[in-house]
Amino acid sequence: MLSEKLLKALNEQVNFEFYSSYTYLAMAGYCESIDLSGFANFFRVQAKEELDHAMKLYDYVYQKNGSIELEQVNKPQIEYDGIIDVFQKGYEHEQLVTKKIYLLTDIAYEEREHSTISLLKWFIDEQVEEENNFNALLKKVRRVGDNQAALYLLDDELQKRQYVSPQTV
Ligand code: FEO
Repeated sequence: MLSEKLLKALNEQVNFEFYSSYTYLAMAGYCESIDLSGFANFFRVQAKEELDHAMKLYDYVYQKNGSIELEQVNKPQIEYDGIIDVFQKGYEHEQLVTKKIYLLTDIAYEEREHSTISLLKWFIDEQVEEENNFNALLKKVRRVGDNQAALYLLDDELQKRQYVSPQTV
């Protein structure tokens, strides 16, 4: 049985993961609008993974006999000042997610809620990968700068990213 405080925090995280999905879908749209379909593909896959994160928490809460209150999802940022700005904002967003996961984990530790701690360990590990991916791509787009040929090579590389459903791994 989850405490009211922990349930509220888990609910907020579910809603924030949906907002993350919206944020990356908006970034995908922006990339399409500047003819970078490989970058758009990267963000579309990212948006799907965020839905998986939301559902992992959602399913857990119901397994623990709690319930989720879905909230209105905030409107994400739609316009960006170029591809570097997109990755800068993406990287900052992932750092914010990490902070939220840590705060959630703090509550779980305070309450000695070990099953929630175990679940959140998965998210903590995932955030290492998420931050690293964004930081690596931020460095790449900075290095590419105004070099259009290099930008399109990177766009081709990102076109290859494929969504892997969690059920199949
Ligand atoms: Fe759900 Fe990108 O963290």
